[in-house]
Amino acid sequence: MKISILTICPEQFKSFLKTPLIERNIKTSLLQMEIIDIRDFVKGSFRKIDDSPYGGGPGMILKVEPVVKALEKIKQDNSHVILMAPAGKTYKQEDAHRLSEHEHLIIICGHFEGFDQRITKYVDEIFSIGDYILCGGEIPAMVISESMMRLVDGSMKKESVLDESFENGLLEYPQYTRPYDYNGDKVPDVLLSGDHEAIRRWRHEEALKMTEKFRKDMIEEKGDRKMNEVIKALKERRSIRNFKPDMPKKEDIEQIVDAGLYAPNGMGYQNTIMVVVTNKELRDKIQKSNAEIGGYVDRDPFYGAPVIIIVLAKKDWRNNRYDGALVMGNLMLAAHSLGLGSIWINRAYEEFETPEYQQLLKDIGVDGEWEGVGHCAIGYIDGDVPGPVKRKENRIYWVE
Ligand SMILES: Cc1cc2nc3c(=O)[nH]c(=O)nc-3n(C[C@H](O)[C@H](O)[C@H](O)COP(=O)(O)O)c2cc1C
Repeated sequence: MKISILTICPEQFKSFLKTPLIERNIKTSLLQMEIIDIRDFVKGSFRKIDDSPYGGGPGMILKVEPVVKALEKIKQDNSHVILMAPAGKTYKQEDAHRLSEHEHLIIICGHFEGFDQRITKYVDEIFSIGDYILCGGEIPAMVISESMMRLVDGSMKKESVLDESFENGLLEYPQYTRPYDYNGDKVPDVLLSGDHEAIRRWRHEEALKMTEKFRKDMIEEKGDRKMNEVIKALKERRSIRNFKPDMPKKEDIEQIVDAGLYAPNGMGYQNTIMVVVTNKELRDKIQKSNAEIGGYVDRDPFYGAPVIIIVLAKKDWRNNRYDGALVMGNLMLAAHSLGLGSIWINRAYEEFETPEYQQLLKDIGVDGEWEGVGHCAIGYIDGDVPGPVKRKENRIYWVE
């Protein structure tokens, strides 16, 4: 990635270029950084980059010609131009992600008194780093460069970037290091338990509490942030193939099943049902018959998950499998958002074609004819959570 900064104070960047992250990335050629003095694009011996405003008023205004001349010299087809100015939209972590994808970023540092409005015609975006006035856009340009540079592939360890504040729409969870006991203030026991699942859940809950306490606005933000969290969950969810035997909390299972009820469905008929199996004896029976149908010897097709939610749809309903698949999707997403693992396990259709399973439905009070769509196996994840899988290319065809 290349960052070009247009400034009237190039000397301000001297120490910034020496900061470890920036210096290291320049050395390894991950980053090319050029600091361009706008004065170099002004004619005349005074190299005057500003002038008084038309219509009167205090202060001096950054002129349009030198900025445009500088842009003409350095701008290429792949350049994205940003102007740092108090009027811009507030810069956020999601902008850092977006900007870090560009090959060439040009950052124009605004001037404390203002700039000729015509400069904005040459920029793609205007950013501010907060509602206060600084002497110029130099410090904001450093803020943007550093926050973005950290996200460029190969710049930092992936885990340290993903776990940080703002990355999950929450502040980061609290951290502790030695000593264990500081004047009677001890490190929470769960962090010493060695139980990774318990630590993960504790951290998530603490991150929520921290955000609620210090940045309530992040939780209350409506619209696109909420939407982004859903999209994030959609992209992060993975099928889990290693579960702990421990039973998840009843209220979590209830929330997951409830989310299943809200799936879109053909004609609004709600022609699906769910059988929630937490009973170990029945769970193991289903495991056995599912393995038999699949032809598995010595393998649990449910990967040890203690909860099996079976989704069924009305047999004579023409949308039955579509409806059932959407319920399954809701269940898996809801489980993911509660920090639980899930996976779709097949062969529900074959199971519910057998008299034994039809009898099972009758025994639990289900009337009518039902077709098995899928099993959603749920439980605590044992081991590492799989990361996202790169999506196959060329699967979207736009007709605009
Ligand atoms: C209709 C359907 C049936 C599936 N059946 C099984 C199954 O029987 N056993 C299994 O291990 N995974 C099963 N899966 C999980 C897929 O293998 C998994 O979704 C796929 O590899 C993509 O991985 P991801 O869910 O982590 O993105 C099924 C998924 C779907 C959608």
